[in-house]
Amino acid sequence: MALTDTYKLNNGVVIPKIGFGTWQNIDQAESATAAAIKTGYRHIDTAAVYENEEPVAKAIHESGVPREDIFITTKLYNTERGYKTTLAAFEKSMARLNLDYLDLYLVHWPANPAVGENWAETNAETWRAFEELYDAGRIRAIGLSNFSVPYLTELMKTVRVAPMVNQIEFHPGYMQQETLQMSHDLGIVVEAWSPLGNGRVLTDPVLVEMAARYGVSVAQLCVRWCLQHGTLPLPKSVSADRIAQNADVFGFEISTEDMAAIDALPETGFSGLHPDRVTF
Ligand code: A2P
Repeated sequence: MALTDTYKLNNGVVIPKIGFGTWQNIDQAESATAAAIKTGYRHIDTAAVYENEEPVAKAIHESGVPREDIFITTKLYNTERGYKTTLAAFEKSMARLNLDYLDLYLVHWPANPAVGENWAETNAETWRAFEELYDAGRIRAIGLSNFSVPYLTELMKTVRVAPMVNQIEFHPGYMQQETLQMSHDLGIVVEAWSPLGNGRVLTDPVLVEMAARYGVSVAQLCVRWCLQHGTLPLPKSVSADRIAQNADVFGFEISTEDMAAIDALPETGFSGLHPDRVTF
């Protein structure tokens, strides 16, 4: 395995197995993205709500790497759900990104009963716009984010084009087994946001002891654990050293026994952001 290895999506498009995450990074989004590309990352994940599509895109455009060699993801924010609003929001993201096609567009969060009783219809209408953009060749792949089992189940009743990706919170101490299983059963690639538990799992004593045994950092152990579960980690950092470290995960393999020990950790490092409970 190497940083440029890919998963194949259910429409045949290939996606690099590790992406560079940019959530919570506005001021250093450009420098961090530039460092990631220099390190060899070829998959960059942004979102309209991160307010960094412009600096992230600037780093991509100025990297000297051909456009077609970089896989770019952005996401539709919750305030823009619905058919027409999605089409308009997509154009705004594309203008900020200064792109003529996008690699992957994700529905950032499902509408849920906490935001309105028409949540299922809203998600279906949003997806109809995604399908149209996909059919028109504006996007190479379309997918979801934070769609746990009930939302995925409901959406699958009306999709014409099946989603290719589901990006969920996934790290040691919070692995959402049922969503992982259902996504994989449907042929959907699972991307892991906050694969380091946003830094909260890095001091876990079980992980600290295990990482020392492998001669790696806990961050590297977490990224590797995601890969060995067949998920696509999106680690993020503002530091060039840590960006490089998080991609240096191909020189060791976690044993079956240690994978099981990590899987058995009690809930640790959960962000608190649950698709049933968020009201944004
Ligand atoms: P920093 O940007 O200063 O490196 P996640 O990707 O799970 O959301 O985690 C991101 C958090 O983890 C950030 O606070 C980031 O801080 C920190 N982080 C990223 N990589 C490493 C690493 N290799 N070692 C320690 N902390 C890291």
